[in-house]
Amino acid sequence: MGENFHAEGRSYNNIALIGFMGVGKSTCGKLLARKLDFQFFDTDTMISEETGCSIPEIFRYHGEEGFRQMERRVVQEKIPLMNRCVIATGGGLGANLEYLESLKRNCFVVHLWLSPEGIYDRVKRHKGRPLLETADPMARIRELFEKRISVYRHADAEVSTLNRPVKRIVFQIMLSYQSLKRKTNEFGIIETPRENQGTSC
Ligand code: S3P
Repeated sequence: MGENFHAEGRSYNNIALIGFMGVGKSTCGKLLARKLDFQFFDTDTMISEETGCSIPEIFRYHGEEGFRQMERRVVQEKIPLMNRCVIATGGGLGANLEYLESLKRNCFVVHLWLSPEGIYDRVKRHKGRPLLETADPMARIRELFEKRISVYRHADAEVSTLNRPVKRIVFQIMLSYQSLKRKTNEFGIIETPRENQGTSC
């Protein structure tokens, strides 16, 4: 795995993990990168390093809109140059259809799914997520989850992280990546199994 891999006008040389806050994108991404011998990047870390500010500071001084513009620059200027990388994205990045479509140009995009209750359980003890600094974080999670889930589902694959150890999640991501490679023929066309092609006459 890992050599140049193109199909249907897309390059699959990177893997991007999208999904809600707290689903485990960075933790899984680091292990996945190690297993594939890819480099690991986290879009929040890239933005913090470039600006010299933490994510809460960016929200405080530039607002959410300022932060989204910084994400746009990562998506449009940095990710297109990547090769053999695993990219863990901030929870709002993959919830923007335009950014998600850009990721798809050179990434196999995987949505890590977790229920709102599971998300709350993971994030409740951690500070540093400005969007959840409200009186009722559970209500906020539900509201954002409802708005975002249909966009996240444009990913190439979805993996549940509910009650699953990191190793198992990573294994499943690798399986879906390998399966896509197996289905891609020498002309770079993804072959759908006959039973999924509808009825023929
Ligand atoms: C956000 C998620 C955060 C970070 C920022 C906004 C979001 O990243 O980008 O606080 O809009 O969901 P994580 O998903 O890594 O927590």
